[in-house]
Amino acid sequence: MAQLTKTVVMVGMMGAGKTAVGTALARLLGVEFRDSDEEITRAANRSIAEIFERDGEAFFRARETEVISRLLRGNPCVLSTGGGAFLSAANRSLIHDVGVSVWLRADLDLLWQRVRHKTTRPLLRTPNPRETLRTLYEARLPFYAEADLAVDSAADLSVDDMALRVREA
Ligand code: S3P
Repeated sequence: MAQLTKTVVMVGMMGAGKTAVGTALARLLGVEFRDSDEEITRAANRSIAEIFERDGEAFFRARETEVISRLLRGNPCVLSTGGGAFLSAANRSLIHDVGVSVWLRADLDLLWQRVRHKTTRPLLRTPNPRETLRTLYEARLPFYAEADLAVDSAADLSVDDMALRVREA
């Protein structure tokens, strides 16, 4: 199998499956899997919700850029990013320079089904999380559309099938 020469960066909304599909893809490609949220929480020794609460979103975003930039300088791997990472022009340009971005595209209903029972995401701790998700989704689509590749997610596709789709793309 050809060796991976660029880091594959998974982008897209919360609930799109970036971490699950990214993990399966890394296994398929025989490379390491990294997750920017996981790196941030490990370094801070706090959950994402605690970081947002105590340090603020701006602090989280700064850590996110640092982590992405550091991981992109390392060996090619599969890197899953948080749903807001690709909104930053600085992050997009870092990723475009040395990686391949893959937007895991999923419709709003599927995203909602996947995130509705999870209360850990600070941005969805609002009186009407369904509406908040819709607002975020609409505002973010144009940014995700700048990714190098878009791969459609569907409710009836397994994580492994999705990973195969991404590898194909
Ligand atoms: C965020 C998504 C989360 C996490 C943080 C902010 C966002 O990651 O980075 O809560 O802005 O959409 P997931 O996309 O993995 O849920």
